[in-house]
Formats: sequence, C-alpha cells, structure tokens
Amino acid sequence: MSTEPTTIRWERDDTGVVTLVLDDPDQSANTMNAAFRASLAAVTDRLEAERDSLRGVVLTSAKKTFFAGGDLRDLIRVTPETAQELYDGGLAIKRDLRRIETLGVPVVAAINGAALGGGYEIALACHHRVALDTPGTKIGCPEVTLGLLPGGGGVVRTVRLLGIADALLKVLLQGTQYNAPRALDNGLIHEVAATPDELLAKARAFIDAHPESRQPWDTPGYRIPGGTPAHPKFAANLPAFPANLRKQTAGAPYPAPRSILAAAVEGAQVDFETAQLIEARYFVELAAGQTSKNMIQAFFFDLQAVNSGANRPQGIASRPVRRAAVLGAGMMGAGIAYACARAGIDVVLKDVTAEAAQRGKGYSEKLCAKAVSRGRTTQEKADALLARITPTADPADLAGCDAVIEAVFEDTALKQKVFQEIQHLVAPDALLCSNTSTLPITALAEGVERQDDFIGLHFFSPVDKMPLVEIIKGERTGDEALARAFDLVRQIRKTPIVVNDSRGFFTSRVIGHFIDEGVAMVGEGIEPASVEQAAAQAGYPAKVLSLMDELTLTLPRKIRAESRRAVEEAGGTWAVHPAEAVVDRMVDEFGRPGRSGGAGFYTYDDDGRRTGLWPGLREHFTRPGYRIPFRDMQERMLFAEALDTVRLIEEGVLTSVADANIGSIFGIGFPGWTGGVLQYINGYQGGLRGFVARARELADRYGERFTPPPLLVAKAENGETFTDA
Ligand code: NAI
Repeated sequence: MSTEPTTIRWERDDTGVVTLVLDDPDQSANTMNAAFRASLAAVTDRLEAERDSLRGVVLTSAKKTFFAGGDLRDLIRVTPETAQELYDGGLAIKRDLRRIETLGVPVVAAINGAALGGGYEIALACHHRVALDTPGTKIGCPEVTLGLLPGGGGVVRTVRLLGIADALLKVLLQGTQYNAPRALDNGLIHEVAATPDELLAKARAFIDAHPESRQPWDTPGYRIPGGTPAHPKFAANLPAFPANLRKQTAGAPYPAPRSILAAAVEGAQVDFETAQLIEARYFVELAAGQTSKNMIQAFFFDLQAVNSGANRPQGIASRPVRRAAVLGAGMMGAGIAYACARAGIDVVLKDVTAEAAQRGKGYSEKLCAKAVSRGRTTQEKADALLARITPTADPADLAGCDAVIEAVFEDTALKQKVFQEIQHLVAPDALLCSNTSTLPITALAEGVERQDDFIGLHFFSPVDKMPLVEIIKGERTGDEALARAFDLVRQIRKTPIVVNDSRGFFTSRVIGHFIDEGVAMVGEGIEPASVEQAAAQAGYPAKVLSLMDELTLTLPRKIRAESRRAVEEAGGTWAVHPAEAVVDRMVDEFGRPGRSGGAGFYTYDDDGRRTGLWPGLREHFTRPGYRIPFRDMQERMLFAEALDTVRLIEEGVLTSVADANIGSIFGIGFPGWTGGVLQYINGYQGGLRGFVARARELADRYGERFTPPPLLVAKAENGETFTDA
C-alpha cells in the first residue's frame, strides 16, 4: 500500500513494516528543504498514530544518494535577521527525528548511497545502520569543510555513539568521508551489504531480531563512551583538543572547529534535549556568519561551476585521451605521468636518456608501493598502472600519441625545439600541451605547425596531490583544443580553470605578490618570525619566507627580469617592488639563493632539513622595536593577491569569478576561509566599499601598489560584487 507521493514516500507491507522512501519529486537529490520538513512531520505523525500495529521502520532512498543534507542554496542566504527561522526549522527536524528514535519500534537506515551531513544525521537517529558497499557510498559529517557543524543532531549523537574524542577526531573536526567498510571499522555504521537486496534483507533481519529497539543513550545506565569532561580520566586528555585545533587551523579565522569542540564538550555534560539546543545555537551562529558563506560559495557552488564545464566551449564532442606523450621525466613530468596512468591512460614518458626516463617512472613505482602498503590500492591495480608507463629516450615510441604534455626545462627556445622535433611523430591531430609555469603560450606555439592545437596545461607540484590544473589559451588556441584540454584534465580527475595567455598567467603571477609582500616586510625591518606568523594566522598553508626558499630566490628574480624587459620594450615603466632589493641582497651579498642552494631565509642542515630562520636577517634587515599592526601584516598579503586578481580581470586574463576563487585556493594556497581571492573581496567587512576604503588606507601607509584598480572602485560605487551571473 502506498500513499500520495511526497518527499518521503510511505510504503507499509502486510507484516507491519513501514518503508519510508526518501524521494524528492522536484530534485535529483534529497535535501532538508521545506518540502522535506513538512513530509517528515507528516510521516512522524502517522508513525505515532499507527505505532501499536507497527513492527518496524526502514528508512531508505529512491535516489542514487541516500540523502544529501542541508540545502546549501537556503543556507548561504541566511542572515542574522533570518537566523531565528533557521533555528526554529532545525529544532522541528530534531524534534521529529527524536520522535522517530523514541517510537518504541525498531528503526533501520538502509543506506543505499552517499549519506553525508544531514544524510548521516538521519541515519544516526535510527537504531541500526546498514550501508550498501558501492563506490558512491560515502558516510560522514563534512560540514566543517563548509564552515558549518552538523546541526541535525549530528554532534549530539556522534558524541553519544563514539565518545567525545572519537566523535571529534574521526567524524566532526576533519569531516572525513568514509566508504562503507571504513565506516564500519570506525563505528559509524553497524553492517555492510553487498547488494541492494541484501541491504533490505539485513534491515528486515534487524527488525525481526530486535522488536523493542531503543538507542544506547536512551537505555538505563548509559554513559558516554570514554567518559565526559567531568571525569578525571577524561579531563586529563581534554587540554589536547584546543592544541590539536590550533594545529588544524593554524590560528586562522575558521570558527567551525571551535564551535564543534564547544558543542561537543558542552553537550556531553547535559541531557540529550539540552545538548540539542546547544548544538542548534552553535549551528545557527555559524550559518549566519560570513565564513560559512565564503566556504559554501567556493567549495560547493564555484567548484561545481568549474568542474561542470561552465568554461568549456559547447558542442564539441569529447574524445578521451588513450595514449599520452609526457616529454621530460623530471619532477613535474614524473608526476604527470603518474596522474595520467592512474586514470587509465597509456603514457610514453620521454627524456633525453633512457636512465632519466626510467628514473621518472621510478617516481610512480614509489607512489604505487606506498599506496599498496597503506591499503589504498591493490598490488594488481598498482602493477596495471605501472605497466601503462613506458619510459623511453627513443622518439619513435611517440607514434600514435593523441596528446602531448611537455615538461622540459623552463626555457622558451628549448620548448620550441622539443615541439618541432616531435610534432610529426605523434598522431596528426594530437593535442599539444606545455606545462610551463610562466612562459607565454602564444610565443611557445610559434615553434609548431598546428598552433590552434597548442595550449598551456599548468600542473602544480606535487602533481599527485594538487587538485588543480590551469589551462592557458594562447592567442591562436582553438576551441577544439580548449575543449579537449578541459576533458583531459577531467579525465585525470583534476579541476580545470581556464585563463587567457599572459606572463605568469593567473596563479604564478598572483602568488608572486604574496611572496613579494612578505619579503618586503622583512626589508622594512619587521621581525621575520612575525612575518611568518602573520602568513600562518591569515590561513596560508605555507609560510611566506619558507615558500620563497622552496621556489628559490633566483627563479622569481629571473622571471622578474624577463617581465621587466617585456614591459620596457613595450614602452611602459617598471614599478620597482620593495622586495627586489631584499632578494638582490640575499643572493648577491649573502649568497643565500634558497633551499636547493642550501641557504635562504632559513638555514638548512646537510640533509636539506630546515633548522631555523637565518639569524643574519635580524642583523641586516630588522629594525629593533619597529612594528606595524598584525592585521596590516596579514592584510597586506591578502590584499596584494586580491588586488592583482582584479587587475587580471581588467586585463582579460581571468574571465570567471569561480575560476579565480577555486584557482586561488586549490592552486596557490589562498586561505580557504575566504572562499577564494574574489570572494574575499565580496565578503570583506563593509563589502566592496569597505574593501576599497581599506585598500586606500594600505596604499597610504605602505605604497601605491595597494591603490584599488578602477574596476574594483566602479563595482564598489555601483553596489556590485564579483559574480559570474
Ligand atoms: P626538472 O628539471 O625536474 O625536469 C626537467 C626534465 O626535462 C629533466 O629530466 C630533463 O632531463 C628533461 N629534458 C630536458 N630537455 C629535454 C628534451 N629535449 N627532451 C626530453 N626531456 C628533456 O623540471 P620540473 O620542475 O619538472 O619542471 C618542468 C617544467 O614544468 C618547467 O617548464 C617548469 O617551469 C614547469 N613547472 C614546474 C613546477 C614546479 O613546481 N617545479 C610547477 C609547474 C610547472
């Protein structure tokens, strides 16, 4: 028997078991929208009304995912003024889930796909959780990654299920998404099923065997596993949490982990209902704040826009790459070969000697061995991956390659020569890509006959870990090549952003401004350790001077000299950055070219390990007692990157706000709490007007480079923000 279709379908069989099928008729996934809330209230009323004749309840979904969680389109619009509505709506859901878990009949979640966030919270309100083991089944509470906390009872119930420590470390603070077997191992679910039939059979079996189910926390004598903060044993461990938290956020303004910790600890010391209210209060505070909006914008909406191909030319059929030539088996080429082979592409990895090529393949061998030893892949899969990589020095092996990715030394003449040599050896319509990190693509293309098939494909190091690829369109790059490059990046499961040609493109140019600002502060006389701390506390994953050492001081100097020449040849005037003098002194006077040279802003031991900031910095640059506000230090770095990004939009290098936001976070470590480099401007206190006023203040204090560009001023005056719409 079935009632009218609603968001939750009611199906009662003649044995007294009701299956509640989550099936939003208006969306491809089930979310906690108004229709769901109304449906939940209605089915809960009905369950209570029919309770005496019920044997059990199975909750499952008719969609590919079990349940997708809160509706982020609603959440991103919450303001302090509408927060009360969110609070009330949240409490209503909590109340209904509580009524279901205290119904007095067994309730089982048959998790048939992803149950993340709200999905897992619904499952937590069931007495038993069985999950189908499919690639799509992901279980956990990733809210923290969007600047939120699980507000549907997720904090309250995971703490009562696993104990405070495990709830925080395994579920709440990292937002880990588990597959079904790992969810079982970590205590998030009770059983795994191999097939949909087995899933329902196991749910039924639980109902048959447990006619009077209740939650552990509703059972007399229940105690939170591992104890609560009132216990002396627990209290001994508690001080570690704030320290761990600081490690996770490096002091950057991420409010969610702190709120999660507070909700978990406060909630563990009170009864269930009060804990629910505490969780609700923290949830609403986070949802109404700016950080969650920034993070939802970037990690959900922008990421979706970027990956779905908003920038890919339409109407061009995709043809997967089957055989790729990777030219140059150094650090980047070796990583690119691995990424391609991992995605099932055959790779010809070519270097000048067979030994160098084999060394490049050795990198994949190392990564595979590590993956096998950690149980992330099987020996069989690792062997298959390695068998796809052919190391060679013989150009004849390039025959039949339908894509070329060049990663030889950063030298225009060499790159042109390499393309000339191979262009007739590969497939006649092969896509031709260069992994240059700074050189203009249009000039590189001059070496080849098919310039419309030539494009920049800028990977980041280490390639196996970095999710971003920056695609650079040269002046003569065709739409077909752009579409193919986009598809290739997706094929190897990375995120593509698309920019127009320019020296340093988007990412390399903008990260240069971050580094320059840090170095300039050292030159001004600020304590170097303070500069590093400012970068860390602003949320940058790498401190600024240590990053400069990694890149070497000489490489940016070389790039700067080339840029200066280009500007002056075009009749322009080069604006000297105060960082230049510092770098010159470091290299020429003190012989400290960076980590690879054994000495830079830091000192290194014989094994290349950092041992500390170079004491000479204080001697030669620091002005004792000289200080500027800490906020100025952080904002100088953030603003330097944001302002140059606006200039890149003015220059037409960047054409998409989503690409700028995603590229900045995923490629060059712009702090995630900002939602990306343009969302940082949108979300700045006082909006664009506030940002412009602050930029002018920084320009007065620290130099003209902070003068807001005309596009930013115009947008601020018109009350606009940076958006793609
Ligand atoms: P690398 O120095 O580690 O490797 C370059 C490799 O190219 C060497 O193995 C060399 O033997 C080989 N090679 C030189 N001439 C060749 C030729 N004619 N044919 C075949 N192979 C040849 O350099 P790395 O770091 O891998 O950089 C390669 C390219 O990637 C450069 O254009 C660089 O700017 C770019 N890039 C580097 C990044 C980095 O973080 N290192 C990031 C993104 C791009």
